[in-house]
Amino acid sequence: MAGKKLDRAPGAMEDWTIPQDWERFSPAEHAMWDRLFDRQTRLLGDRAAPEFLGGLDVLRMERPGIPHFGELSDRLMKLTGWQVVAVPGLIPDDVFFEHLANRRFVSGNFIRTPAQLDYLQEPDIFHDVFGHVPLLADPVFADYLQAYGQGGQRASALGAIERLSRLYWYTVEFGLIRRDGNLRIYGAGIVSSHGESIFALDDQSPNRIGFDLRRVMRTKYRIDDYQQTYFVIDSFEDLLRETLETDFGPVYADLATQPDIEIDTVEPEDRVVSLGTQAYARKGVLSA
Ligand code: PHE
Ligand code: CO
Repeated sequence: MAGKKLDRAPGAMEDWTIPQDWERFSPAEHAMWDRLFDRQTRLLGDRAAPEFLGGLDVLRMERPGIPHFGELSDRLMKLTGWQVVAVPGLIPDDVFFEHLANRRFVSGNFIRTPAQLDYLQEPDIFHDVFGHVPLLADPVFADYLQAYGQGGQRASALGAIERLSRLYWYTVEFGLIRRDGNLRIYGAGIVSSHGESIFALDDQSPNRIGFDLRRVMRTKYRIDDYQQTYFVIDSFEDLLRETLETDFGPVYADLATQPDIEIDTVEPEDRVVSLGTQAYARKGVLSA
């Protein structure tokens, strides 16, 4: 995700990209990727959306370890026209949107340490590449993320970035999808987290609510622990169609008069898939 008031790294390009410099990674860093990759692919077999699982093949590189972005981009380019480029960390919103609108996915350029195996707040290569890239191999999702980038440029002009960020958060990062009567994960923040891959589907604590565009845009989110509410879509086609066909201009204007919704609240109009106990959130394990 993008951030605010940042300085461009020395040597970075105007679009904030830097060389990945793949040769720089140590054997321990490559081993960290392999360890996380194995652990998550074993866990996600019957948990992640089939489109995500199918897209994992694009990450099976010639050499083990952290994917080489040049090789990865060649493969993705052939499938859906996307590329993966390195940036030093958080980048300004408008730069982030510009990359997405041009089918370039930006990835952080560091990998977590063993102490951060299970949780870190800043996106590392494992989150950005393992979490996001498989779905970029899916043509519908690939179009959604580009449209989101274009929508970001517009939201920026309309002063509505916060609303639009919530859509990203509750779909691209933490989305669930219904498949054959069961829930599956597609959000990158979930699939790249061992703990949340279990929690998001199995735990009694969080709410799971049918996706509603305006509702999502009104809902706050937390960045320091597992989510307290997840939103469930029926298909990527539905998500893409609804977001493309809806003119967000009037929606932003209308929502400006409505209060935000807290992270754990269930509204009378919600299509509740499962009503959470919020027991985990009350204990606050990760943030304690
Ligand atoms: N339809 C949105 C708008 O009018 C653009 C958008 C499309 C945003 C898809 C997100 C995802 O701004
Ligand atoms: Co992400």
